This record gives sequence, C-alpha cells and structure tokens, in this order.
Amino acid sequence: MGQTLTLLGIESSCDDTAAAIVRDGPDGAQILSSVVEGQTALHAPFGGVVPELAARAHSERIDHCVEQALAAAGLGLSDLDAIAVTAGPGLIGGVLSGVMCAKGLSAATGLPLIGVNHLAGHALTPRLTDALAYPYLMLLVSGGHCQFLLVEGADQFTRIGGSIDDAPGEAFDKVAKVLGLPQPGGPAVEATARAGDPTRFALPRPLLDRAGCDMSFSGLKTALLRARDAVIAEKGGLTLADRADLCAGFQAAVADVLAEKTRRALAEHPVAALAVAGGVAANSLIRAQLQSVCAAGQTAFLAPPLALCTDNAAMIAWAGIERYRAGGRDDLTLSARPRWPLDQTSPALIGSGKKGAKA
Ligand code: KG4
Ligand code: ZN
Repeated sequence: MGQTLTLLGIESSCDDTAAAIVRDGPDGAQILSSVVEGQTALHAPFGGVVPELAARAHSERIDHCVEQALAAAGLGLSDLDAIAVTAGPGLIGGVLSGVMCAKGLSAATGLPLIGVNHLAGHALTPRLTDALAYPYLMLLVSGGHCQFLLVEGADQFTRIGGSIDDAPGEAFDKVAKVLGLPQPGGPAVEATARAGDPTRFALPRPLLDRAGCDMSFSGLKTALLRARDAVIAEKGGLTLADRADLCAGFQAAVADVLAEKTRRALAEHPVAALAVAGGVAANSLIRAQLQSVCAAGQTAFLAPPLALCTDNAAMIAWAGIERYRAGGRDDLTLSARPRWPLDQTSPALIGSGKKGAKA
C-alpha cells in the first residue's frame, strides 16, 4: 500500500452514463460516491441500444454526473489525484464522450489521465469490494460480455474461454421478447420460470460435448423458439404454464452450461476464488449452481453487490487506482477504442452483440 489515492472514474461505454469517486488508503478502498444514469427508457422503443442516441445522451449528461459524484463525495477537483476513464471497448460514440470529458478535466486541472479497459473494471471489482488477492478466476456474464478470465495482476488477464456467439444476457433478452415478456429479459424470464417445469422441454446444453471453456447461446435461443412454435402450432397459442415451462427450461440450460464450464475452468486453473460480474450473475438459479460448483471444489465464491456487478464508474476509478499504482499514465493522445481485448493473446471473437462490438 502506497500513498492514499482519490480518483474520479468516468464510464460511458454502453447505455449507462456514470461517474464515481473512489479512495484507497491504509484502511482499504472506499467508494465515496457512485452516480449512474441509465438509458433504458431512451432505447426501450427500439429493442436494443441505438449507438447514436446513446452517444448524444452520454455527452449531454456526463458533466452532470461528474458534478453530482463530486458533490456527493463532498470533494472538489483539487482533492483528486487522477482521473480514470473507460477508453474502450464499447460503442465508440459513448466511449469518445467519456474520453473527451476526462481529457478536458485533465487539461484544465493538470491531473494525470488514466485510460481504463472497461473489462478490467469488471474483472478487478472483487479487489475493490473484498480486497481479493490474485490470482482468481472471473466469470463475466452480462448483456454484452461472456468470458472466463484468469486474473493474475492488474494488467495480467488470460481469457480462458467465452461465448462464441451471443452473451447470455442477450439470449435472456431475446427469449423474453419471443415470449412476449418485458425487457430487460433476464429478470422477467427468471420471475416467469419460478412457476415452470424445467424438464418439460428438452433444450440443448450447447458445447458441453466440446472440451474447454467456450460457450454458445445462440442455438439454445433458436431451440427455444422452435419449442415455442411447436406449442403454438399444436394449441394455437401459449398458456401461462407454457410460458413458465419454456422460461424454466431455458434458464436451466443456461445455468447448466455456465456451471459445467465453470467446473472445467476451475479444474484447468485451480485458484482460491471464483468471482462473478455482470447482470446475469443476479440470477438466483445461476448463482446457486455456481456456488455449488465452487463448494464442491473448495473454491471461494464471490459476487459483488449487484450495483457493482453491472456497469458503473466506481469499478473504473478502482481499475484506475490499480493502474496508477503500477505507474500507468496516459496523456491527451489517449484514444477511444471500440475493440480492446483484455487478453491480447486470445483470438478475436466473432460478431457484434446487441450492445456493440464484443471484445
Ligand atoms: O451487466 P448488465 O447490467 O449490462 C451489460 O450488459 O453490460 O447486464 C444486463 C443483462 C441483461 O441482458 C439482463 O437481461 C441480464 O443482464 N439480467 C439477467 C438477470 N438480471 C439481469 N439475466 C438473467 N437473470 C437475471 N435475474
Ligand atoms: Zn460492462
């Protein structure tokens, strides 16, 4: 532990405009404030994030978020040691809004500027919340991300597997859409599944027959669509019980895939702890199955509070603190990067998700 550091973090890579102040000192890390302005209502009529609308909303709101974060922490710019900002990966217009805001503040105040990889923000969060020691395994599962990362240092990430197509949250959202449930789909599918029978529809567990930790959710979503169509063809529509059984079957398949791949990831890389992040980690069945995989392997299971699992700026400020301590600094030449894999050695993923390019 070196000097006490107080950083402003700025996040705008997808559909949340966020600013936060984090302080790290002898007593550990403390989130002094964390402001998140979501854009769910803005994009709802379009069934997905519209990049141009997102970028405009970020640039309109970002300085307000920074002001609010400073006010809530009771601090001014002169109390900060540096400014950390998400420099990618993400929707480029949004990332640019954050980077330009951070550059402006840095130029005006002379404070050091630190570009942060958004995925590093997620991956380092258990160190902010639980002071988790390296190395550990991170399962990042959200609407835009799906990967296992072996985290061995603030800049040492190895991607040991991930989805080769849809992210699981994206699949939950699409399933909700085809069953006429509201968005975001994950919570709606989980609630509907509560009354359902997960065994009625025989849905696949994709890629379990293939070695390694890669996953696929696109075929599962198509299988669910076929099961739905078969019921409609037979009965002319879906009853509440049909919907509940379809949701329960889908959720069970996702949970089984994530649990089995986690078991393999831990077998290949035996570490003391598994941490999860991303909105899908809020699902109780998925959480319970991951927890029992960890318990069986005597691995600690860590799930940061949901507000820190989903997109936020406290994780960016924290990743900035880790980079700052390691001597990382950027200047006004910092670029916004739509793609920025954490693990430069892993092959690029195919395609682009609902929430933008996959890293
Ligand atoms: O991390 P997040 O807030 O945003 C990003 O994708 O970056 O994750 C949102 C995703 C959505 O796709 C949502 O449907 C999913 O997480 N989600 C869930 C649950 N709550 C949110 N999926 C399954 N079960 C849930 N309870
Ligand atoms: Zn994210």
